[in-house]
Amino acid sequence: MPISFMAGNWKMSTTVAEARSLAEAVADRVGSSTEVTTVLCPPFVSLTAVAEAVSGSSITVGAQNMHPAASGAFTGEISAPMLAEMCSHVIIGHSERRALFSETDEFVNEKVLAAFESGLTPILCVGEQLDDREAGRADQVVEAQVRGGLAGVESPGSLVVAYEPVWAIGAGRAATPETAQQIMTHIRSVLASIFGDEPASSVPLPYGGSANPGNIEGFMAQPDINGALVGGAALDAYSFCQMVEIASQAG
Ligand code: 13P
Repeated sequence: MPISFMAGNWKMSTTVAEARSLAEAVADRVGSSTEVTTVLCPPFVSLTAVAEAVSGSSITVGAQNMHPAASGAFTGEISAPMLAEMCSHVIIGHSERRALFSETDEFVNEKVLAAFESGLTPILCVGEQLDDREAGRADQVVEAQVRGGLAGVESPGSLVVAYEPVWAIGAGRAATPETAQQIMTHIRSVLASIFGDEPASSVPLPYGGSANPGNIEGFMAQPDINGALVGGAALDAYSFCQMVEIASQAG
């Protein structure tokens, strides 16, 4: 079964009107036939507009973050049960949240568990900083993020794990497919040690970090890379749809 996966992380980039028209343009082109799991992740305020815009297509919708508590006195936060009424996926542990909002593996883990409990698909993001890579500890850093983020998870279910080397995000300079594959095969083996070989083999592992229509084919050609989590290039409907098409041919 193909596990190709392509998601657009629109970050804090679109107003509701812009999100609606971008989603309509993507849905028009992707239509209802792609075998690639295609997810659009707009800001919270645009989830409903984007869900309406893609209804009838094969595209699904995801949020970019959530709070682990189901409800309570957490001003400004959004919970998993709230999201579950609006979307199917949620990005958890993005490096921007780890760096700018001090999110730890423990907090990320609470969110992953809460997402599963509400029936959401977590897109767990992991990735090393440049100094980790230069010091030769990229594998260990990423492994600790995977193990920490998944503590207490008994079965991967619909889990997605995105490998996003921090030094490649928004840099205009992606990792090479070989570099990404080297870490992603390690991620796959860590998942296998947690869940077993067979369940680990069906977890989609997208690459993220300056992925674009020009380099996606090289990533998809690697055995442990199943797609991409796309930032900048996902803000252009044409580019993102090209990536979905390339992924569907490669998948
Ligand atoms: P860019 O594709 O803009 O490098 O962003 C990647 C990313 O952070 C997706 O979550």
